Amino acid sequence: MSSRDQFASKIGFILAAAGSAVGLGAIWKFPYMAGNHGGSVFIILFIAFLFFISLPVLVAEFMIGRRGQVDAVTSFKQQAPGKPWYLVGYLGTIMASLILSFYSVVGGWILSYLIRAFTFRLKSGDSESFEQLFHAIIQNPWEAVFAQGMFLLITIGIVQAGIKSGIERASKWMMPTLFIFFLILVVRSLTLPGAMEGIRFMFVPDWNQLNWETVLLALGQAFFTLSVGVSVMITYASYLGENEQIGSASIHVALMNIFISILAGLVIFPAVFALGFQPDAGPGLAFVILPAVFEQMPLGSLFVILFFILLLFATLTSSISMLEILVSVVIGKRRTNRVRIAWIGGLLIFIVGIPSTLSFGIWSDVQIANKSIFDAVDFLTNGIGMPIGAFFISLFAGYYYKTSVSKQELNTHPLFYYVWLILIRFVTPIAILIIFIQGIRNVF
Ligand code: PHE
Repeated sequence: MSSRDQFASKIGFILAAAGSAVGLGAIWKFPYMAGNHGGSVFIILFIAFLFFISLPVLVAEFMIGRRGQVDAVTSFKQQAPGKPWYLVGYLGTIMASLILSFYSVVGGWILSYLIRAFTFRLKSGDSESFEQLFHAIIQNPWEAVFAQGMFLLITIGIVQAGIKSGIERASKWMMPTLFIFFLILVVRSLTLPGAMEGIRFMFVPDWNQLNWETVLLALGQAFFTLSVGVSVMITYASYLGENEQIGSASIHVALMNIFISILAGLVIFPAVFALGFQPDAGPGLAFVILPAVFEQMPLGSLFVILFFILLLFATLTSSISMLEILVSVVIGKRRTNRVRIAWIGGLLIFIVGIPSTLSFGIWSDVQIANKSIFDAVDFLTNGIGMPIGAFFISLFAGYYYKTSVSKQELNTHPLFYYVWLILIRFVTPIAILIIFIQGIRNVF
């Protein structure tokens, strides 16, 4: 019997899991969400939710995955034979694939920027000219769909190579590179005259900004950014050997994520304020404001390219994790045909994603529940699928597992274990319920 691929090293696993977590969520979404929803208040809520609600679920997913040593669906089937828990695995697989279908749209935009940059067509200019460029890219059906396809091709290429030679190897150099270059960008941004205003925006709370919407969005962000609730982390942990410490691995992943989110903020906000822009530019913040901001500095074009290359790395290490769950579920116990399944899965996701791409251009009139197609798929996954998945995962690890099992799996100081147990049994599910109900009421 051929043995199942595994991560070759602990650091390889942590980097791959952190790679899945750190992505558009941290670098693209976090700054503009914080920018639109009161800066520091959003950031404080986000960090609290990340530690007390999202991190316990991450630990739970690592437990379930490592215990199973198989794909997410089979893992639930084996650990709860004859019970419907495996549906959580299917739900996660479908949700992760749907996330990839719109994630790849933004991945495509990044590629479009880079292709222009490398062919010397990313002209320097002010925010207005970048805005025009951004709209030209996202509205052009041919270019946007083509770029989305290219992004998925790269994703497929990495996933089909397998865990050790594809995913682990890619994450192992992409993640550290990301850290180092981000530090350079932060130094550049912080040394601009007037940068302190951005720091104040990020760290001095203005509690008047606190409202339900901010609370909901901060929680959604805490789930999305750690990739929890869709069994992606169950899948990665299934390639983990028995001796690894789940607790410390999860804390590492959470800390790296917060670190990169804050760094992304520290790149963007000081520069935005220093150069007289507004922080609430929405999704265009990274694509319109940031390049314009860099353009006003010495060596600006270089920093723009650097930023988009990093964003591409971070996006890829996340997108491969979304395709991996689909591939692993379809492979199941057969352990063959990885290459073919990766291609077919990627192709299907591409087709499903085309309407999301077009919803920025020729299909911008199409509305589902008052949202564009892109936003509707985002809401279906991040607003509905992830909380439901995280809810059941927390029940599974908190109640279905005997405490002797979870204690042994977590294998840590009793104090940490009991803190986790209380969080996963009470705090996580109750918080999700409240926020889920509020969120649904907001929309319908
Ligand atoms: N965590 C990723 C990001 O922030 C997104 C993601 C969600 C990845 C769900 C996998 C599963 O970009």
